[in-house]
Amino acid sequence: MSRIAYVNGMYVPHHEACVHIEDRGYQFADGVYEVFALHQGKLVGEKGHMERLAHSLAELRIDWPVSRRALAVIIAQVARRNHVRDGLVYLQITRGVARRDHSFPEDSESALVLTARRAPPLDKEALRQGVDVITIPDIRWKRHDIKSVSLLPNILGKQQAREAGAYEAWMVNDDAMVTEGTSSNAWIVTKDGALVTHNASHAILNGITRLSVLEAAAEAGLGFEERPFSVDEAMQAKEAFVTSSTSHVKAVTKIDGQSVGNGHVGELTSRLLDLYVDFIEAKGGPQNTGAWN
Ligand code: PDD
Repeated sequence: MSRIAYVNGMYVPHHEACVHIEDRGYQFADGVYEVFALHQGKLVGEKGHMERLAHSLAELRIDWPVSRRALAVIIAQVARRNHVRDGLVYLQITRGVARRDHSFPEDSESALVLTARRAPPLDKEALRQGVDVITIPDIRWKRHDIKSVSLLPNILGKQQAREAGAYEAWMVNDDAMVTEGTSSNAWIVTKDGALVTHNASHAILNGITRLSVLEAAAEAGLGFEERPFSVDEAMQAKEAFVTSSTSHVKAVTKIDGQSVGNGHVGELTSRLLDLYVDFIEAKGGPQNTGAWN
């Protein structure tokens, strides 16, 4: 089966899909993106992703390339044309093509690219295999709430994790607080049993998976704290995990080589994975998507 991509109004074979060399995404990383998970043929958290996309575009003053309604149709089409039931849809919008100049061009049109690919269906057993994370300095700019395609610090961090045999790198700010992973949100269950993840602010990307887990936890009557936590607190935590559209709820059993709790997947982590899957299957994704208004 040949893969199909969407590029600026056309559905084209993936291997022929290309953009202009003076696209500002290529020149300056002047663009934003979203990654949607597809679970059993349905997009997870579509409304949340769209709200966050609207926020990213507005903050960077990039115009919508097509209407929001048209974009929803294109996303569904790209998934359908690639026969993806379980997998990912990747969407990127840049400020478009213009003569190279740092300031905004006056007349460029936003460029839109989408691809989709299959991935193995969500596998709870695999997600309960604990992974290692390392901690690294957070060297990014100060607007992590914007899902910018400018990802160099994230790429370098993820590579460092890979070279250390770890799954993810948790980024640590100048106050020794963990902000988030290079492509996921970071969570701990403290030694006193509190479920903690960084509050939504400019310091993190407010994950759609994060929002689903928070809503699922609230529905189940589980308490949580949205606040920064330190590396020390994480090292003493009972449990840890990461969330993202690609990792769902993934248990973390080692931080910087040291076992988290008893070194096994935590009870609450395991329960939250079940709650998360039930939640997205029942509700499709977070209902409270006003976080970006
Ligand atoms: N990354 N934090 C960062 C820095 C991220 O890049 C991501 C997602 C998340 C989790 O967001 P969500 O739950 O909405 O996927 C948090 C995507 C998957 C990526 O870059 O591939």
